[in-house]
Amino acid sequence: MAQGKPSKKAEQAAAARAAQLREQLDRYNYRYHALDDPEVPDAEYDQLMVELRGIEAEHPQLLTPDSPTQRVGAAPVAAFGTVRHRIAMLSLDNAFTEDEVRDFDRRIRERLEQEGTIRYSAEPKLDGLAISALYEDGVFVRGATRGDGETGEDITQNLRTIAALPLKLRSADAPRSLEVRGEVFMPLAGFERFNKEAVARGEKAYVNPRNAAAGSLRQLDSKMTAARPLDLFIYGVGYVEGGELPSHHGAMLQTLRRWGFKICPQSRVVDSIDGCLAYYHEMGVARARLPYQIDGVVYKVDDIEVQRQLGFISRAPRWALAHKFPAEEALTTVRGIEFQVGRTGALTPVARLEPAFVGGVTVSNATLHNMDELTRKDVRVGDSVVIRRAGDVIPEVVRVLLERRVPGAELIELPSVCPVCGSPVLREVDQAIARCTGGRTCAAQRKEEITHFASRRAMDIQGLGDKLVDQLVARDWVKSPADLFDLSAAQLATLDRFGEKSAQKLATAIEAAKYTSLPRFLYALGIRDVGEATASALAGHFGDVASLRRASEEEVQRVPDVGPVVARNVAAWFADAENAAIVDRLVASGIRWPAVSAKSVSGELAGTTFVLTGTLAALTRDEAQEAITLRGGKVSGSVSKKTHYVVAGAEAGSKLKKAQELGVEILDEAAFLALIEFDAKADAKG
Ligand code: IVH
Repeated sequence: MAQGKPSKKAEQAAAARAAQLREQLDRYNYRYHALDDPEVPDAEYDQLMVELRGIEAEHPQLLTPDSPTQRVGAAPVAAFGTVRHRIAMLSLDNAFTEDEVRDFDRRIRERLEQEGTIRYSAEPKLDGLAISALYEDGVFVRGATRGDGETGEDITQNLRTIAALPLKLRSADAPRSLEVRGEVFMPLAGFERFNKEAVARGEKAYVNPRNAAAGSLRQLDSKMTAARPLDLFIYGVGYVEGGELPSHHGAMLQTLRRWGFKICPQSRVVDSIDGCLAYYHEMGVARARLPYQIDGVVYKVDDIEVQRQLGFISRAPRWALAHKFPAEEALTTVRGIEFQVGRTGALTPVARLEPAFVGGVTVSNATLHNMDELTRKDVRVGDSVVIRRAGDVIPEVVRVLLERRVPGAELIELPSVCPVCGSPVLREVDQAIARCTGGRTCAAQRKEEITHFASRRAMDIQGLGDKLVDQLVARDWVKSPADLFDLSAAQLATLDRFGEKSAQKLATAIEAAKYTSLPRFLYALGIRDVGEATASALAGHFGDVASLRRASEEEVQRVPDVGPVVARNVAAWFADAENAAIVDRLVASGIRWPAVSAKSVSGELAGTTFVLTGTLAALTRDEAQEAITLRGGKVSGSVSKKTHYVVAGAEAGSKLKKAQELGVEILDEAAFLALIEFDAKADAKG
């Protein structure tokens, strides 16, 4: 077919194949985006796309605007045309408090003279850019920004590049003209990746995903838009002609999904304003795990006829409300910058701030992570900064408002000596982290080491918090974790604000903590980079402390999931004479754990899933879980057909019932202890 005109027959075959490929690609796209349920691997999709492109290149007359190949971007435009919205694109009234939300619902019921509750569609408020997309006879023909609500910009070519927007509807019963509305946004992962790449190219990073989405959509060259990781959700309709839509908003979203649109999976119909408020709290928690940014939730009266009756005032409908989350970013000033010394000596720059209310709490300190971050952000004393606190995440400084910098503000440099103990600070080449070289001679490192050793997931010494550790270290009673076990109740009773009773209680807690597990003990030692998972892996592999202590770096590296850096840290830690002496003393003081038998190390419970319910007498929940994972088993939170055993302790509840219903094997405490060959008296000393 290299020369001359293709034969009629070949032409027909090409047309048929192109139609088939488009149909197939559209379906895969729909399954991937709208249903989040991919049908084929990406590579297969890509291959079909290559084939379709080839056919279209050879037979240009076969090219259609709704072909899936048309998402790559078209020729740049000098400026965007304007689009007049046939139905204005409204905005939403905002509420920040529960009272405001209840008022909104009360006003609606009064207006409708309705006694009963109102059903609402509750949806995340996506933090992106509102768009409109028009379909004529099922084909995408025009896209627009919201603009001022009356007229927007024509961004048809740019919208076309977003894979989540169908170019053709998957239905013959869709209205002849259908204008949908939704939000274009940049998912967080894409935002971070995009910014990293932009900085690497020497370009400016976007300050947040919203700006990134807006900037990407407003590219005059749609090839640029095509290269940005944009996504969208459709949340409503505008102009509709020549067809019917469901009478309720929630049902309409379902119909739009069927036609090929991507609908936010978190959207849900609730039966009253209480349901809305519950939804708000639920999304407030879920928010931190969502792959995209939301700044609140939106409530819409579900019944569209009722929406029509309610109408709107000025720019916002009476039937919808945005319930916003507390802002996660705030502006404040830096009072000072200090360096905190952690357990492993790492120096963390921390900004002391003018207190600011952000993410629902008052924040007066924000981390700057490490020297590289501090240098990159160039934060100085007196600077105006944007701080951010999202969910439970530690507050951080996002950026400096350079235009507000006070003249003479000095650059912050890494201190050459530790601010706590005066030992030299060392920063290895190519390492982001600088460390105090004082080791246990540094009071800060000592405090952190002991606090970590006593913490809940380590030795779990109940009642031994930071304040007490401060006192114990300040009096020089405790120089290493081993000293904790030499403290007497009489001695503890002389601490500030400590009576005989609390002293006795702490002494008992220290004694009780001696009975632990090997993974906890290894984790408690605070070896650099040895978290709980690594501690468990080391315990499972070596079975006791003595073998681990004897192990060479190479041997440690043979443990699954332990890399060379961790292996080196572990070997170096045990090779240190001071550490070795501490371990000897800890073991001599009576710290012990259930034997990890050679058999169990081999993972006799591998592939077995347990669910724990009720209370066991011999073990805490954490200990039972550890006993299982140490033997290669898995612990799940809920009972299903895939569960192998449900361990039922005293007062077991619904999980036990579920196990009975599903016919899952149930173990009582005695049977469970027999299975794991638990021996409470076993001493597996290092
Ligand atoms: S509905 C009349 N639903 O919020 C209804 N808007 O302040 C108008 N937004 O411009 C919009 N998520 O960009 C609606 N689930 C959602 C939304 C949403 C985000 C944005 C949209 C709109 C702005 C209104």
